[in-house]
Amino acid sequence: MGFDRSDYGGKPVIAIINTWSDINPCHTHFKQRVEDVKRGVWAAGGFPVELPAMTLSEPFQKPTTMLYRNLLAMETEELLRSYPADGAVLMGGCDKTTPALIMGATSMNLPALFVPAGPMLRGNWGGAALGSGSDVWKYWAELRAGTITEQDWQDIEQCIARSPGHCMTMGTASTMTSAAEVLGLTLPGAASIPAADSRHALMAAATGKRIVAMVWEDLKPSALLTDASFRNAVTAVLAIGGSTNAIIHLIAMARRAGIRLGLDDFESLARRTPLLANLRPAGTYLMEDFYYAGGLRALLNNLRDLLDPGTLTANGRTLGENITGARVLNDDVIRGMETALVGSDTLAVLRGNLAPDGAVIKPPAAEPRLHRHTGRAVVFADYNDMAARIDDPGLPVDQTSVLVLKNAGPLGAPGMPEWGQLPIPKKVLEKGVRDMVRISDARMSGTSYGACVLHVAPEAYIGGPLAFVQDGDLIELDVPARRLMLQVGDEELARRRAAWQPPPPRYARGYGALYVRHITQANEGCDFDFLEAGGPTPEPEIH
Ligand code: FES
Repeated sequence: MGFDRSDYGGKPVIAIINTWSDINPCHTHFKQRVEDVKRGVWAAGGFPVELPAMTLSEPFQKPTTMLYRNLLAMETEELLRSYPADGAVLMGGCDKTTPALIMGATSMNLPALFVPAGPMLRGNWGGAALGSGSDVWKYWAELRAGTITEQDWQDIEQCIARSPGHCMTMGTASTMTSAAEVLGLTLPGAASIPAADSRHALMAAATGKRIVAMVWEDLKPSALLTDASFRNAVTAVLAIGGSTNAIIHLIAMARRAGIRLGLDDFESLARRTPLLANLRPAGTYLMEDFYYAGGLRALLNNLRDLLDPGTLTANGRTLGENITGARVLNDDVIRGMETALVGSDTLAVLRGNLAPDGAVIKPPAAEPRLHRHTGRAVVFADYNDMAARIDDPGLPVDQTSVLVLKNAGPLGAPGMPEWGQLPIPKKVLEKGVRDMVRISDARMSGTSYGACVLHVAPEAYIGGPLAFVQDGDLIELDVPARRLMLQVGDEELARRRAAWQPPPPRYARGYGALYVRHITQANEGCDFDFLEAGGPTPEPEIH
């Protein structure tokens, strides 16, 4: 390879796990950025080795990237174990890549630093700022309602994603990179820098330099990932109006670190945490505006009273030290505690006979009139059934109905795709209605909005109560009381349960067979049971 022994002898070997791929638009700049990381590693006296890993590209991977999050986590862990790495730089950003890389690195527990891909620049259409995901859903509904033309739709497609970087709304990507920063796994301020900004390259090089020092200091994820750092991450996710997907990912990440984080922690922290980031889909602005307004460090400084400032971060300082002095430069984008967009309850965990193990909803993303709503179910057996009938003029549905989608969970779909924002039926849209109560065992894109009850557990496919809902049943949603009830008597429910037939196994071989045997439910993080914290895996013998 052209290296002399003096190039690597006695130096920390830094494995750079790069999820660049031609098929991932969010990571197009990683081919260049990895050179910036290497430059930093060389400058600090390390030896960089780039290790490509599978990418998880939201727009293109089917049925869903979530099916493969744990596979990338396994690949990351085993790359770091089987090659002679002393430390790791993790390059990701498109939704599932962030938790996957961190889960793998946590289990391996080598010194590790994450390079967030950074958000795209704002979209722009006819002078209006466009946000990825959120404006797709918005204008798709307008197209179906006939208020914009097919040509408008194509024009929007041309200019909504106009630079490298991940989705620039507060979707799952921005949520998870921000969570990674709060956990102490990035350099301070890294998560908010737009991918196209020269400061992103600067951050990548600085990461390369820092990881070499972290190896000498033996600063590992186990020193950073604590009960307190996860509570800080959950609080921050709530204050930025983060994606509901973060619930699943943070639970899985915490379990890898041996920490029991659960739905009740999200619920209790949501009761006291205000929404400070005025970003779509919950607010107005986009990640580029957030960066110019001071970024995550400035927001965390405003949130300081609700954080534990003593948690250690990758630069060797505490979170409190890293955010001290960070200034808000636009107080409409980053609000203070007194000017919060929403005072509390940006997330609610629902329970009831329809979701014994929990379900979630983002109350600020729903029209307030729907926070307390009882309506008759319109049931779809699966996604194909929904797609075939949702716009049928004969569908017995109106704006008071409750749309129910079954078999969209971790096993049922499989992979728990982002189908939870069911489309509003065309005949309801045409009346000017833009929100209805929707219930499923699916996830929802972090860029989505609406009165969508998600992550219903246990899922329908394994015989959770969602499987027994029938057309016309009354369903009661009461967000203030945190209740989700199917108003059907116990006797009738028992009769339906007895008549229910479990579906046949979906995969006979391969990764799919491994997945269905070991995947956990949404409230447990959807990790594989055998990957959660356990005894240490030995280093390979070298012969
Ligand atoms: Fe990659 Fe949205 S498509 S983050």
